[in-house]
Amino acid sequence: MRIGILGSGLMGGKLGTLFARAGHDVVFSYARGEQKLKRLAREAQGNARAGTPGEAAHEADALLLAVHWSRVDDVLKQAGDVSGKVIVTCSLPMNADSTDLVIAHTSSGAEALAKKVRRAHVVSAFGTVSSEVLFDVFNARRKANRPSLIYCGDDQGAKDVAATLIRDVGFNPVDAGPLRIARYTEPFSLLVGQLAYESEAGPELAYRFERFGKGR
Ligand SMILES: NC(=O)c1ccc[n+]([C@@H]2O[C@H](COP(=O)([O-])OP(=O)(O)OC[C@H]3O[C@@H](n4cnc5c(N)ncnc54)[C@H](OP(=O)(O)O)[C@@H]3O)[C@@H](O)[C@H]2O)c1
Repeated sequence: MRIGILGSGLMGGKLGTLFARAGHDVVFSYARGEQKLKRLAREAQGNARAGTPGEAAHEADALLLAVHWSRVDDVLKQAGDVSGKVIVTCSLPMNADSTDLVIAHTSSGAEALAKKVRRAHVVSAFGTVSSEVLFDVFNARRKANRPSLIYCGDDQGAKDVAATLIRDVGFNPVDAGPLRIARYTEPFSLLVGQLAYESEAGPELAYRFERFGKGR
């Protein structure tokens, strides 16, 4: 696939590199310096190059949106027409200094984004807590009190498999109910991230399983 990276920081840089090494055509765009984009493209070792957001979006099969929420409008403006494109977003709806959500519990970043780009197909992914939290989670795994991992879904068979996998990798699976609960997991996962940093009891992790397909 041709994949345009809109935002080549921690998330865009790493995911773009993985996509290029997996054989996809990748265009890295949107960083504060062109040299960085060129370095990412060189180090990705696959079929990758540096470009503008417009070049990344042009003829892309899919776009990865990986900028701070405050930069979303700017990068989309530079990207131009994204009609019909799949936009995979990991941009969490945070305020300028990333201390608070800018979207409350009645919506989500993905829904707000979908309203900005009505002719594109928005997929929310990587909307987990920040990666730094995971380091503590892996340490906590070794303790007797295993960190919890929240999951939700409508298919009991699939949920049983998920619970087994979660247990296997060292977490305590907590069934959060049906799939409709998933819309609340974005603010919820941020809350969990905050607890991980601030609470005495140690970190916990929220995760989100989604079904992609017709009618959902
Ligand atoms: N990091 C995580 O573990 C994680 C996990 C889940 C979701 N997220 C979300 O994913 C999004 C991206 O996170 P990230 O950690 O990848 O952020 P990041 O490392 O700060 O990447 C943002 C990118 O935007 C570029 N940028 C910022 N301001 C710009 C400007 N004025 N002009 C041009 N480029 C500009 C940055 O350029 P430079 O490269 O020059 O700095 C960088 O390439 C955020 O919404 C975050 O909440 C992050």
